Amino acid sequence: QPKAFIFDLDGVITDTAEFHFLAWKQLAEEVGVIFDRKFNEQLKGVGRMDSLERILQLNPERAVMPLAEKERLAAQKNANYLELIAKTTPADILPGIEELLRTAQESGVKIALGSASKNAAFVLEKLELTHYFDYIVDAATVKNGKPHPETFTTAADALGVAYSDCVGIEDADAGVTAIKSAGMFAVGVGDAQHLPHADYRVDSTDELEFTDIIRRYEEHQA
Ligand code: G6P
Ligand code: MG
Repeated sequence: QPKAFIFDLDGVITDTAEFHFLAWKQLAEEVGVIFDRKFNEQLKGVGRMDSLERILQLNPERAVMPLAEKERLAAQKNANYLELIAKTTPADILPGIEELLRTAQESGVKIALGSASKNAAFVLEKLELTHYFDYIVDAATVKNGKPHPETFTTAADALGVAYSDCVGIEDADAGVTAIKSAGMFAVGVGDAQHLPHADYRVDSTDELEFTDIIRRYEEHQA
C-alpha cells in the first residue's frame, strides 16, 4: 500500500475554495474586472500574488501598477478571505474527509498537507484536524507553486517517503498536474471536465474511501 497521503486543503478538506472565489470577486469589482466561476477554475491551487496577476491581466488598464499597489490589493483580498472564514468550525469539514484521515492514520499511512495557502495551518486549527497531520508544507517557503511539483515533493521529503509511494489528493487541475509531475498517484475530486489528468477521480469527497484509493493505487502500480 502507499506510505503517504498528501492532501490539498482548499476544496478537498473544506470548502474554502468558495471563500477564495468570493474574496477575489469582491476585489475584482474594485479593480474593474469581470470575474466569473469559469475563470475562477484556473485560480484554484494558484498562490495569492500569481492569482492577483492573472486577475489584473483581465483589465489591460490595470495590468501595470506599482508593486506596493499590488501588495495592497493582495492584502485586501486576504482581509476579505479572513472575514469569510472567521466562523469556520469542524462542521465545515467536507463529508468523508475525517473518516479518510482516521482510516489512513490507523493503517499506518503518513499524512501531510500540501496547500499553496499561507492560511492553511490556521484553517486546519479551526477545523480541529491538525493532530492528523505529520507535516504541513509552509506555502511561504515553496519557491515554485502548483503546477510545479515542489509542494508535493517537499511534503514527501519531510516525511521521508519515496514519491512513488505517495498519493496526492486535489480538486484543482494545477494540483493534479503537480502530483503527476512529482511521480505520485493523483486522486482528483470534482468533475471530469476540470480534472482530465487524475489517475483516479471522484465527483465529491463523500466518495473518497480509503480501500478504493488503495485498490486504485495498487492497480496503477501493477
Ligand atoms: C490555495 C487556493 C487558492 C489560493 C491559494 C493561496 O491554493 O486554492 O485559491 O489563492 O491557496 O491562498 P492564501 O490563503 O495564501 O491567499
Ligand atoms: Mg484546492
